[in-house]
Amino acid sequence: MALYVAAAAVLEGVENRQGSIKGLVYGRRFQNVKQLYALVCETQRYSVVLDAVIASAGLLRAEKKLRPHLAKVLVYELLLGRGFRGSGGRWKPLVARHQARLKAELARLKVHRSVSRNEDLLELASRPGPALQVPRFVRVNTLKTCSDDAIDYFKRQGFSYQGRASSLEDLRTLKGKHFLLDPLLPELLVFPAQTDLHEHPLYQAGHLILQDKASCLPAMLLAPPPGSHVIDACAAPGNKTSHVAALLKNQGKIFAFDLDAKRLASMATLLARAGVSCCELAEKDFLAVSPSDQRYRQVQYILLDPSCSGSGMLTRQLEEPGACAPSKKRLHALAGFQQRALCHALTFSSLQRLVYSTCSLCQEENEDVVRNALQNSAGTFRLVPVLPSWPHRGLGTFPGAEYCLRASPETTLTGGFFIAVLERKEVSSSASHTEAPGPELTASPTPKRKKKRRKLVAGASTLPGT
Ligand SMILES: C[S@@+](CC[C@H](N)C(=O)[O-])C[C@H]1O[C@@H](n2cnc3c(N)ncnc32)[C@H](O)[C@@H]1O
Repeated sequence: MALYVAAAAVLEGVENRQGSIKGLVYGRRFQNVKQLYALVCETQRYSVVLDAVIASAGLLRAEKKLRPHLAKVLVYELLLGRGFRGSGGRWKPLVARHQARLKAELARLKVHRSVSRNEDLLELASRPGPALQVPRFVRVNTLKTCSDDAIDYFKRQGFSYQGRASSLEDLRTLKGKHFLLDPLLPELLVFPAQTDLHEHPLYQAGHLILQDKASCLPAMLLAPPPGSHVIDACAAPGNKTSHVAALLKNQGKIFAFDLDAKRLASMATLLARAGVSCCELAEKDFLAVSPSDQRYRQVQYILLDPSCSGSGMLTRQLEEPGACAPSKKRLHALAGFQQRALCHALTFSSLQRLVYSTCSLCQEENEDVVRNALQNSAGTFRLVPVLPSWPHRGLGTFPGAEYCLRASPETTLTGGFFIAVLERKEVSSSASHTEAPGPELTASPTPKRKKKRRKLVAGASTLPGT
């Protein structure tokens, strides 16, 4: 029993950089040093695999008193080692209670990674998964600087500029101190994954915005010309708002709404740092913003990026497999709110173009919301086919769904994302964009379905945050 506690203490010491495994093992004056050393080394070797299994089995959530390092040692013994030695003390029955689940999660991991032996998991664990390979995207804030100046600054700091990338492959193979311009977005710099620029003076001064490429698409596709009036319906913390402001060149107006006072406070700081002066912030439920209010009569553009399950977020994708999946109940509530917000946005009388986006991978929050809103709009709006060369499209659940964009680490080297661009059919010349018209979606003729849809919309009384 003391063996497991000692091994856990050594592992913790190694992690906290208190010394090498050997030094810490010998420092403990444990009776059977060889046994302790072997157990620590083996547990350490399988560390990533053990973390994944422990997390997906929910062991630490269920056993609050069990410390993570001890859990790792015990699970190693149970699943990969020689089984518990001696009586195993009080920890043996505790971990044994979770034995079936732990074994099942290990088996699932092997199936997921298409390997049959435990050792084969080691090789894969040392290779980073797709979410860890997503490059660091940096949007140049054109309200404060320009791409050329930012590039020169990085060059002076010893980074090597490789020009504009011509393919995703260029981004995938980026290494060391090399950086590129994105092949699609004009003001997006790309650095190797794990490049940390949070302390960089240009970021601190608001000249750079650290923003994933997929999250830059909504403002780019909304494309409001300078002077336009824009609503950002669910705006905090404001990265997309600041992008819209940059496209407007601070000329025109952004009405930005959010319910969350704390997020709005950080948004105000972000916008001030980014030099945004055309934005009016309001702590307000977008659903309560009246489309007939005279203040919004010139609003031709709406960005709707509502609260969602966040199942596409990179941080979520790094968690245990399956952890990204929201419960059915939560999805239902979220989709209800998203649909109400989208239908509400489409009632603004001057609206010409709207971008709907989420960082969710779930069809219920994406294609289903867009399809229902188009049906509700009785043919007034259509989906716009955007970025024809974008490789990942909406799920083909209704005619035209392929006009929507999806994004993921595997297909686009970004976080998971969904975007739909809607445009009013009788497009006035001032807000007209050039894409071909999309297919029509008419409202469902069966009264039964209409009733169900209304119920879904009304059902979302809670508004989950992101
Ligand atoms: C996905 S986040 C928006 C991120 C933001 N667009 C950006 O790029 O930084 C969704 C936001 O919607 C806000 N929200 C949720 N329900 C809302 C409502 N009824 N009206 C306005 N904002 C709402 C949340 O507080 C949250 O800040």
